[in-house]
Amino acid sequence: GKGEMSVTLNINGQSQTLAIEPRVTLLDALRERLELTGSKKGCDHGQCGACTVLVDGQRVYSCLALAVMQEGKQIVTIEGLAKGDTLHPVQAAFIENDGFQCGYCTPGQICASVALLDEVKRGCASAMTADLTSPPQLTNLSEAEIKERLSGNLCRCSAYNGIVAAVQQATGQTPPSPA
Ligand code: FES
Ligand code: FES
Repeated sequence: GKGEMSVTLNINGQSQTLAIEPRVTLLDALRERLELTGSKKGCDHGQCGACTVLVDGQRVYSCLALAVMQEGKQIVTIEGLAKGDTLHPVQAAFIENDGFQCGYCTPGQICASVALLDEVKRGCASAMTADLTSPPQLTNLSEAEIKERLSGNLCRCSAYNGIVAAVQQATGQTPPSPA
């Protein structure tokens, strides 16, 4: 209709062409146009992380991204992480380590954690480690460092201990035994 633009989005490996208004966020396009409701709308203002998805492998708050700007990029949502019946290792780690309670923040936490692991592999520093000569590796990522790197993803149930344990397991470190 009037004011709409045609945009082709690549989401979870599939191309989808939509007619949308330029002001529509990626989050609304996913949830309201593509029935991909795993990404949650917590604050809609870049403050909670519930809407986190991967765009070209980087974590993005989809509530702050315009759908029409995503053409040609590879978008992966929580729905696209599993391969057939096999969960992504980070999803499996969240389940094994009780990385959630109500589950509302979980899709965003998991997408952010997938990106976090990749950032560490690529040697990206966090704000906490920016002045170290060599950033931490997957094998020595501390609990504090994981919390820092996930600080853009809030959990109103405070399931943080389980979330950190899940990320530790996904790094190949043994998570601490439950108290
Ligand atoms: Fe996007 Fe809260 S819904 S950051
Ligand atoms: Fe409920 Fe995180 S598990 S908001």
